[in-house]
Amino acid sequence: MSGKLIVGNWKMNGSLAANQELVRAVTTGLGTATCKVAVCAPAVYLLQLQQLAAGSQLMWGAQDISAHEQGAYTGELSAAMLREFGVRFAIVGHSERRQYHGETDAVVATKAQRALAAGITPIVCVGESLAERETGHTEEVVKRQLAAVIHTNGHCISEIVVAYEPVWAIGTGKTASPEQAQQVHALLRAQLKAATEHPERIALLYGGSMNAANAASLLAQNDIDGGLIGGASLKSTDFLSIVAAASH
Ligand code: 13P
Repeated sequence: MSGKLIVGNWKMNGSLAANQELVRAVTTGLGTATCKVAVCAPAVYLLQLQQLAAGSQLMWGAQDISAHEQGAYTGELSAAMLREFGVRFAIVGHSERRQYHGETDAVVATKAQRALAAGITPIVCVGESLAERETGHTEEVVKRQLAAVIHTNGHCISEIVVAYEPVWAIGTGKTASPEQAQQVHALLRAQLKAATEHPERIALLYGGSMNAANAASLLAQNDIDGGLIGGASLKSTDFLSIVAAASH
């Protein structure tokens, strides 16, 4: 893909007042950034984002999406609903949803499918736990997670974004080294190459304690096309530093 992609995942943070300040600072600070930038907000703030970010370079997304199209699914939000709020991206299969909400590979694959059908780019998260890394299962785990999405989405797979987020690096301050991240990204790239004629369209993001200090060395790796940023996306100066590192 051309140009890096930096996506903030606000997780369950924010308020009307805080979002306003953050989005104003980010949209103003984007200036001449040459990378693509988005933030994934709690769904109740998507209307606010649509209003605040309209006409700016900033895109926005949701943090989850229903695996169902419509109907009796209390509390769920469909792809079509999210689309009405200008959503360009939806994170699917974040490890926090796999872990706390029991999302399986099959559910994640269906969520990606619903997003694609509505013209929303799914950001498919994959990543191993510390125990899985320590027992040498990293490759097997991330390949299995991605294979489910490839299997369900067929030729549409070139329209997804993939985020490699090692679970042990999320919110812990322990980032994967650029070499560790590159190694897994290269595996994922090879898997995608075997699945589509247009692997170059697929951005591979790294996520897990990415910050202003480590972004440049991670983003310099061959197969790292951008970042999915948690904590550091909540502070405009930190987020903008990462955007600057991705704009070189
Ligand atoms: P942190 O950047 O806070 O480690 O979170 C990463 C993440 O989970 C982004 O989706």
